[in-house]
Amino acid sequence: MQRKNLDLFIYPQCSGKLQPDSAGSRWLDCQTCPLSYPIRSGVPVLVLKETRVRPVETSDEFERLVSEALQAPFSGWDFSWLQGRRVETGDPRGEIDYEERARACVASASAVLDLGTGGGEVLSRLAPFPSVATEAYPPNVTEAARRLTPLGVQVIWTDPACLDSRGPQPHNQWPRRRLPFADATFDLVLASSTSFCPREVSRVLKSGGTLLTSQGRTERRSPDLVDALQGTPPEWTQPGQGWDIDATLDEAGFVTVEKIEREGATTYRDIGAVVYFLKAAPWAILDFEVNRYRQRLYQLHLRMKVEGGFTTVGGHCLIEAHKPYSDVLKD
Ligand SMILES: C[S@@+](CC[C@H](N)C(=O)[O-])C[C@H]1O[C@@H](n2cnc3c(N)ncnc32)[C@H](O)[C@@H]1O
Repeated sequence: MQRKNLDLFIYPQCSGKLQPDSAGSRWLDCQTCPLSYPIRSGVPVLVLKETRVRPVETSDEFERLVSEALQAPFSGWDFSWLQGRRVETGDPRGEIDYEERARACVASASAVLDLGTGGGEVLSRLAPFPSVATEAYPPNVTEAARRLTPLGVQVIWTDPACLDSRGPQPHNQWPRRRLPFADATFDLVLASSTSFCPREVSRVLKSGGTLLTSQGRTERRSPDLVDALQGTPPEWTQPGQGWDIDATLDEAGFVTVEKIEREGATTYRDIGAVVYFLKAAPWAILDFEVNRYRQRLYQLHLRMKVEGGFTTVGGHCLIEAHKPYSDVLKD
């Protein structure tokens, strides 16, 4: 690699300048963060996932909290390890109790489908009743089957494409997005914190059937962990890029009978809680990896010690929508 070319390059993520490492010409060290890029056969490889992390000076407390979080168990969608460390403060207008609403809905349902059941934690508290649960993330499929099968719930491993709100298209395009159920099979579909295609849900619901869903706000409106760690957010959290659930429910012919929106604050009390959460929800920061983010995590840790934690404000909603009876659709 020719030294005179060094001025041409910046590190793509933090825009820092690059310098050859002290040992010679095998690595280019970023001058503003602890990442180094390899040089292979004279070619600088300016690709984020090819980087290595140079050691960062931190504190024993930071290292202990991070390593505890990395080693702590997480399965299904069970956040009990974070009790008291990731604390939610409800909306003064009152909280949405999804479980209570779902319980009331299943009381009058004869065939229930739970989409994106995670590890089946929520559904298991509502069962037993005749139901089917889908899951697309392989470790959760196993966990959901272990928890739900004894309760008589049939767990189905579905294609992750079923989470795409656009669904299959005419002429059998995108068949992977089709829910693997016959038309008019269920009278209740539950979808808690998971995306889905309303058109497909309408297809598998009987006339007059109910969809109950709770959804977090996808657009970021207040500084969150992505900002605090200068992370890479998923595209769908950008203004105008998220899923417009109301529009797609409308297009699918649903009638929304109730929509409740709430805001709430989430406080991470220590950096271990942040690391644990980002490990469990890898979509929150796309390229998150502790080593790659160590310096930024350490800065956040120092800030959290001064401020007593890190708080972010988010929103969520609960929607109950009905599929009209077919004679109403014909009118
Ligand atoms: C947010 S969880 C919600 C589960 C459940 N419905 C509930 O409300 O507790 C929704 C989906 O996230 C997905 N998921 C969970 N952990 C994941 C991971 N580590 N990687 C990819 N997807 C994951 C699973 O497909 C799961 O169905």
